[in-house]
Amino acid sequence: MKKLCLKKVSKKKWILENHTPKEILVLDQVDLEVDPGDLITIIGPSGSGKSTLLRILNRLEDASEGDIFLDGGNIKDMDVIELRRKVGLVFQVPVMFDSSVEENIFYGLKLLGREGEKEVAERYLSLVGLNRDFLKRDSARLSVGEKQRISVARALMVEPEVLLLDEPTSALDPTATLEIENLVLKLNLKLNLTVLLVTHDIQQARRLGHKSVVVVKGRKVEEGPIENLFGFPESHLTKRFLEGNLKEGS
Ligand SMILES: Nc1ncnc2c1ncn2[C@@H]1O[C@H](COP(=O)(O)OP(=O)(O)OP(=O)(O)O)[C@@H](O)[C@H]1O
Ligand SMILES: [Mg+2]
Repeated sequence: MKKLCLKKVSKKKWILENHTPKEILVLDQVDLEVDPGDLITIIGPSGSGKSTLLRILNRLEDASEGDIFLDGGNIKDMDVIELRRKVGLVFQVPVMFDSSVEENIFYGLKLLGREGEKEVAERYLSLVGLNRDFLKRDSARLSVGEKQRISVARALMVEPEVLLLDEPTSALDPTATLEIENLVLKLNLKLNLTVLLVTHDIQQARRLGHKSVVVVKGRKVEEGPIENLFGFPESHLTKRFLEGNLKEGS
């Protein structure tokens, strides 16, 4: 069975243009099938709808049209908290509560009314490359890279089946970027976690390998193994995006 299946998913939003409300189509009939254990990068110009797509999968926003199935069940019919336990989302800018790392890490479990074990927290901290001393640290005083790792550890604490990562390295330096990329590869391989990662950075998609989906103006214009997309793009829009010839808002 498919882990995720999107059928003709569209999203409309209202914006103000010259003080006049106008409806825009942010996602346009997106179909996508994700197998268990897939690692998929979602690439496309700024404003093309990539973050909206992730937010819809986690029901931070609802689709205007179409259906999304997780393990065959329509996410519309699921309890939102339960859906978010199964489908974790890590934002571009790490969101930390102003308290200790420990409290941050146990936050998701608390929402579910569950107690967390310190040993489990330490295991996930070590998986993201941080030692146990971090639990007592003040989260406000961490580097962005450390916060991003802790956001990933926090997302993992509830044992999600799918991890959504929205440009997780855009605020990081090249070394921290490579470390997060290696972490994503490790989580996918070791935990067989299904991962959808949004990135602006086509070289990042190339480094992560696997499969990519190209989104332009809310439409899925192409998908396939990353080497095919780079080597033999079928859509002229993919070609222009890879050449750096697609403007923002495309
Ligand atoms: N709350 C909102 N209200 C109105 N329009 C919005 C809202 N959020 C996003 N949009 C518009 O929806 C479109 C898609 O936005 P989205 O954030 O999904 O794009 P993106 O591909 O993630 O872009 P980026 O790469 O810059 O993060 C953009 O045109 C954006 O301006
Ligand atoms: Mg975005």
